[in-house]
Parts: sequence; C-alpha cells; structure tokens
Amino acid sequence: MTDEYQPQEIATVQRLRAELDANGKKLVFTNGCFDLLHAGHVRYLNEARALGDALVIGLNSDSSVRALKGAGRPLNGQNDRAEVLSALRCVDAVVVFDGERATALIEAIRPHIYAKGGDYTVDSLNPEERAALQEAASDIRILPLVPGRSTTGTINKMAGEKAGPRLRIAVLGSGEGSNLRAIIAAVENGTLDAEIAAVISDRRDSNFLKLGEESGLPVHFVDPGSNPRKLGEAAQKEIFDHLRRARADVIVLAGFMRILKEPVISAYGDRIVNVHPSLLPKHKGANAPQLALEAGDAETGCTVHLVTAEIDAGRVLAQAKVPVLPGDTSETLHARIKIEEHKLLPQVLREWQERGLPVRGAGES
Ligand code: GRF
Repeated sequence: MTDEYQPQEIATVQRLRAELDANGKKLVFTNGCFDLLHAGHVRYLNEARALGDALVIGLNSDSSVRALKGAGRPLNGQNDRAEVLSALRCVDAVVVFDGERATALIEAIRPHIYAKGGDYTVDSLNPEERAALQEAASDIRILPLVPGRSTTGTINKMAGEKAGPRLRIAVLGSGEGSNLRAIIAAVENGTLDAEIAAVISDRRDSNFLKLGEESGLPVHFVDPGSNPRKLGEAAQKEIFDHLRRARADVIVLAGFMRILKEPVISAYGDRIVNVHPSLLPKHKGANAPQLALEAGDAETGCTVHLVTAEIDAGRVLAQAKVPVLPGDTSETLHARIKIEEHKLLPQVLREWQERGLPVRGAGES
C-alpha cells in the first residue's frame, strides 16, 4: 500500500450529520493541529466523543499549522495526521481545513455539539467561530486540556535542554489558578523557556494548588496562621524557605490573596511580580472589576507590576486594555480581563527571560 491516506470530503460529513439528525443522534465536532498525537489528545477526543454519537475532527492543513505554530511545523503532513487520527476508535471522520479558524467548516457541517479544549470560556472563543456556532445552534462544550502533555513539550524534550539558564519561577496563588495554567501552557508549548520551581498556596483546597499537583509540579501548602486576612510570621518565613530551596529567580503572585512581607520582600526585591485586574493606578485592592463598573469606566484591563511593601503600587511592567461592555457584570468583565492576563503574564516573563531582570529606573542599581 503506497497510496496516501485521503481525509474525508465535507460532503461525506454533511451526509453523516444528516443521517445522525434523522435518527435523533448528535454529531460532535472539534478542531486542531494534532501534530504528534499524545495521551492528552486521546483523552480529550474520547471525552469529546462521549458528548454525542459521532466525532468529526477539523484538522488544520499544513499551511495553517505553519501560520499558527511557526516554520518548523507541522512535523507530520496533513494526510498522515488525518490517518493517525482516523485510526482512533472515537473518531468517525477527519476533514482538513485551511486558515487559522474553522468558521467555514462549522458553517458547512453545523455540528450539534462543538467541543473545544483548553483555557477557554464560551465568551473567549473566537467571535467569528462563536457566531457561526450560534447560527448553527451548536451546543458549545469546553473540555479541560490534560495538563503536562503537549506536542511542543515533547519536541523540546527530544531536542534536549536548551542552552542558557532557564528562568526558575515560583508561583503563589489562592484561587482558580487560571494564570498558573497560562504559565504552565507557555512553558509546555515552548514559548517560555522557564521552569516552574515551586507552586505555593495558603489554601489547601484551592484549584490553584490542585492544578499544580496534577501538573506534576512541586506544590507547597503553607498554613497562613489564625488571622483570616494576614499571613502570620511563621508562614512568611516558611514561604521564604520554600523559595530559597526552589532557587527561584522570579516570584509570580497570581491571585495570591495575602500580603507578602519580610523576609521575602527584601530578599527578592525587584524580582516579585503581581498580576492585577485593573489598569493601575486605578482600582487598587480587591474587587477591581466591580470598582471599574461602579466608576462607569468605558475600559479597564490588567496590569503586571513589581511588588513592593505598598499594595498594588510597584512599577508597572505591562498593561492590556479591555472594554467594559453594556450588560457586563463583575464576573463577565473579570473573565474577559483574565483572557488578557493569560497573555500578558507569560509575555512579561518571556521578556524577563530574554532580557534579564527589569531594573527599577535610571539611577538605581
Ligand atoms: C486574577 O484576576 C488576578 O489579576 C488577581 O486574581 C485573579 C487570579 O485568578 N490578582 P486565577 O486564580 O489566576 O484564575
């Protein structure tokens, strides 16, 4: 057998959809590059298939993978990728599409269910794709990506350690951990040459800590002490010890709800960053999205800044703007702000890795 495998035509998938529909069954659609299939893909596709009765994959063509991932990709041509995917029990058909978005394919197939993996919410889907899905009355389902598995991560492992020291990052948080997830993703997909050397939380039951654990990172719960707002002296010292042992270069506060004091602040001086959901100096402190709404702001955003003893007051390293939309609640606004945070924070860390630590300003050493 020397003939190349041929992916399905759209018309075949349209027939499949009509047949399913006639029998009261549901077609699930998802799309992606699937360059080097790994267990994360397989688990995700099995979960997607379980949402309905047949699974169709929109596979990015070779030129669209190049546009999305860079010149060295894909490793495997589109027909080979389609052949490997088609061999999975959970996959019924694979259709190749050009361009970075699957909009045209969604319009043609009109899937009953659309599955998307990763750090998305329905609000953060590409607006064109989302409009096409709404038009087709598709049920949109977001499935979590399997942490610790990625094609780029595998490629990096095969290429061996890159030259030069990797940035050692410690991440502190108390909440959902979506920013931690964004940092993990940037490390895994090779856009941030760093190692997450410690994941530290004051909340034992936080999603933040769970995510660190599931991703196989060194996690540490630090008992904050009896005061519900403050971080006790023993906890401040314990955090310092974890940071030292982890040989952290940079400390990232990603939704850490307590104030770091000595000895960490002096020891790590200019090497602590915080991400805050407003355009500082506006709306410092808690509930910043709510404050933006109450102030009637037309736009708000997020800020990555250096941490000093004064709350949310250190030098701003980067900001991104987000419009306030009619009907926004503090939740919808915060969710949109977070989408920008997830890009901004890894970007600041990348610049840090490439250019060295940001200095405070002229005249200071
Ligand atoms: C983010 O909005 C960050 O700006 C703020 O706390 C939130 C943390 O979110 N300081 P997550 O835990 O990263 O999802």
